[in-house]
Amino acid sequence: MTRLASGDRAEVLVVGGGIIGLVVAWQTARRGLGVTVLDPAPGGGAAQVAAGMLAPVTELQYGEEPLLRLGMASNERWAAFAAELTGASGGLDTGYRQCGTLAVALDSDDREELRELHAFHRRLGLDSQWLTGREARRLEPMLAPGVRGGLHVTGDHQVDGRRLAAALVRACERAGAVLRRAEAAELLVEDDRATGVRLTDGTALTAGQVVLAAGSRSHLLPGLPPGVLPAIRPVKGQVLRLRVPAAYRPFLSRNVRAVVRGGHIYLVPRADGELVIGATSEEQGHDTTVTAGGVYELLRDAHELVPGITELPLVETGAGLRPGSPDNAPLLGPTALPGLVAATGHYRNGVLLTPVTGDLLAEYLATGDLPELARPFSPHRFTKVPA
Ligand code: GLY
Repeated sequence: MTRLASGDRAEVLVVGGGIIGLVVAWQTARRGLGVTVLDPAPGGGAAQVAAGMLAPVTELQYGEEPLLRLGMASNERWAAFAAELTGASGGLDTGYRQCGTLAVALDSDDREELRELHAFHRRLGLDSQWLTGREARRLEPMLAPGVRGGLHVTGDHQVDGRRLAAALVRACERAGAVLRRAEAAELLVEDDRATGVRLTDGTALTAGQVVLAAGSRSHLLPGLPPGVLPAIRPVKGQVLRLRVPAAYRPFLSRNVRAVVRGGHIYLVPRADGELVIGATSEEQGHDTTVTAGGVYELLRDAHELVPGITELPLVETGAGLRPGSPDNAPLLGPTALPGLVAATGHYRNGVLLTPVTGDLLAEYLATGDLPELARPFSPHRFTKVPA
């Protein structure tokens, strides 16, 4: 039975209604706890811009093996999660698409970088197949003749971040979570315990547990005691949206990533004809300006990779902020401040890690036990408090 959060008191108060805050709220409400989500515009945030690649293998970086385990677990969960969410939201589709990913190289240095990534994949036993340029073009005929080869990873898929956010909003409402469209002004702390937040209009919302899921603004919440959370840096990504007219489809059949003279780009083709091209990676604070230079670089590299894109209508440009922790891995679970739980710092992997974040945090909030899979990502790793 779902217990509704009532008035200004909840069992769980989630600060931040992006996809991470929403999935924690939905899964926690399903467990029968009274949940309130606090956000002026629930469902907004980086997922509105993200391309939505589910790419634990093709986005793997050296030294991130613990994150790989979490990412693979979430990737495996995605198909069932998407079906559950569609059911729980009354039929909203998330755009989850099992399409696989092709990662290609344009010059010989780029090919060397991908060969090293392929060798790393092999050492870790990951499913990743090396292709010649001709084999890559056989899979994706729109690729430029100069493509030098690359990797085919059949297990890296995609989802539509906007549809995902909309489905999570609806699922939260249907599960009895209260969506409070307001802004937090201050964390309330009494007797060394987080007890809620004060809103900008002065209202106090109290809760048994407060979940901080405010992306790159998480550590900026006034009232947060020093040292409880590390700085979460905003890493801007500029993204383009093109439309593939019906007569040109399928333009691309799977996610295409590329190393283009050392830079990285990706093209994500949706089933509905949208083609998302991303992304820049810029550390300039909380700035989401779309710049001529950012758009130019994306179009220049995408054109070199897939010359036919110049025929397509460009329908939207945008920029979002990836929340990057000091080690680029998420913060999941209780913090050094009793009553305060973190679900933030997902950096490049917010969409991928949505299912597993919801499962792990709901388990902790309902039982007080943090599952083993989440333990390497405890916020205590930055506060030197024993987990
Ligand atoms: N995961 C894609 C990006 O962060 O650009």
